[in-house]
Amino acid sequence: MDFMDISKKRITVRQFSRTPVEEEKIQKILEAGRWSPTAVNGQPQRILVLNTPESLAKVREFCSFGYDQKYVDLAKECDDKDNGKVNFYYGAPFVLFVSYDKTACWTHPQSGESSGATDATIVATHMMLEAASIDLGTVWISYFDKAKAQELLRLPETWEPVCMLYIGYPAEDFKPNPRLSGHRKPLSETCFYNTIPSTEE
Ligand SMILES: Cc1cc2nc3c(=O)[nH]c(=O)nc-3n(C[C@H](O)[C@H](O)[C@H](O)COP(=O)(O)O)c2cc1C
Repeated sequence: MDFMDISKKRITVRQFSRTPVEEEKIQKILEAGRWSPTAVNGQPQRILVLNTPESLAKVREFCSFGYDQKYVDLAKECDDKDNGKVNFYYGAPFVLFVSYDKTACWTHPQSGESSGATDATIVATHMMLEAASIDLGTVWISYFDKAKAQELLRLPETWEPVCMLYIGYPAEDFKPNPRLSGHRKPLSETCFYNTIPSTEE
């Protein structure tokens, strides 16, 4: 499959079928992440595969929030809504919980910034695109309670959570969210050759 086809095929799925994902496919996704570039090849990413009922129950716990009007579209796609709380879990059969080890990152000598979040984000992106190429749906999750996740998953202190990918076969009645998916700004608004157009009137 041409890369552009995979890139366009990948859209966010927030309704998953309960069909389990084959272990070979999970391994393929992890392998795609493994070959990602990282600063000085430090490979600080640490990925937890969560696919047992006990682990997924923990995800539901640290991905549950008070109902917020701002997320009304997403809340409609949630599999669990009670007592003014929404659970952003979407019925995924497995979750990749992506962190980085703070002791294994490159640090920018001038700014002192760590490469960890960038490295882990690149790894997650590669895994997301691999999943799309083998007909799996994904959603990138940043909105979760990181402190609660650290505690429930018993992450080592040096691990910093970055994001989660929920992965699975899309539900039969899955429809992309039209407010969030399927449209992009024109290149003229986000990319510039050599000079940045003046924003002054
Ligand atoms: C950094 C990042 C954080 C995101 N966080 C969430 C999230 O917490 N919950 C969610 O349902 N979707 C989340 N998304 C999915 C975006 O809403 C989605 O990618 C965007 O609307 C574009 O739609 P598309 O993926 O279908 O092209 C996130 C995506 C990115 C890249």
